[in-house]
Amino acid sequence: MAQLYALPDERLLTIAPGETILAATLRQGIDHVHACGGQAKCSTCRIHVLDGLVNCSPRNASELALTTRLHLPEPVRLACQTTVTGSGTVRFARPVLDRLDMELAAQDLQHPDQQLGQLKQVAVLFSDIADYTVLADQLPPYDVVHVLNRYFGVMSEVVAAHHGYISDFIGDGLMVVFGLSHPATAVTDALAAGRAMFRAVAQLNPYLQQMYRCAFHIRIGLHYGEAVVGHIGGNGFRKLATIGDTVNVASRIESANKEYGTTFLVSEAVVAAAGPALAVRQGFLAPLKGKLGMHRLYEVDLAVEPDKVE
Ligand code: FES
Repeated sequence: MAQLYALPDERLLTIAPGETILAATLRQGIDHVHACGGQAKCSTCRIHVLDGLVNCSPRNASELALTTRLHLPEPVRLACQTTVTGSGTVRFARPVLDRLDMELAAQDLQHPDQQLGQLKQVAVLFSDIADYTVLADQLPPYDVVHVLNRYFGVMSEVVAAHHGYISDFIGDGLMVVFGLSHPATAVTDALAAGRAMFRAVAQLNPYLQQMYRCAFHIRIGLHYGEAVVGHIGGNGFRKLATIGDTVNVASRIESANKEYGTTFLVSEAVVAAAGPALAVRQGFLAPLKGKLGMHRLYEVDLAVEPDKVE
């Protein structure tokens, strides 16, 4: 007879042939949320199958309709529709445990187009403005906000033109993700956007000189790797977030510019993905704050346009 192992309950359960996982958990006293009563309409009974997915029945039409609408990945199943075949064990976790989890599931239903957490290969770019706090101290608050909005407006256009997504405004800094809509060109888009950001700042500076007697000089860090992309938030507010070590490393690379007197540093992963079209100066090994070991970084040679490299 097949068995279930339920988390976070840490209970080994029996399941009869043809019995749904929801029926089995309820029969054995698990307080398994099932807001729609097993009609494949709410997704609150969802389980994340950790082991034994092959022992689960294929998604039926009702489950397929809801899981497709919500973009639920293969291992996330509706317990009210899933039965177990053979004699194996299915180990799973129940992510919907309380009222807050139920509200999150309800939000998924209201915004089915939002991504619920996928592992993606992305290029993550961080930028900041050198000596920004000194500049900000010299200007009245209204002018600080005006100048920043003008700067971010210009940068937003550059990012959009290169298929990037601005994930965060962090003070004077930007976090931009490439590869969400155009995965095949994530790195080349990010590199082209970085170059365009420097050009855009050069075009903005005469205005800043004339109006505020200041100029912006930006620094950029870029890394390429896997990250979890999904909508996060609460209380009705959700935003697309990119989470993972790739993001942390990209941020540290941007910070390293300050230490090495550089303006556009990229990781070895970026250089490998970009290929010979990317002109970089000699690489060097550097420690990254909060990261173990040494990391090879390269400075992008902004004097050489990619199409001029042999
Ligand atoms: S109980 Fe609603 S979808 Fe399973």
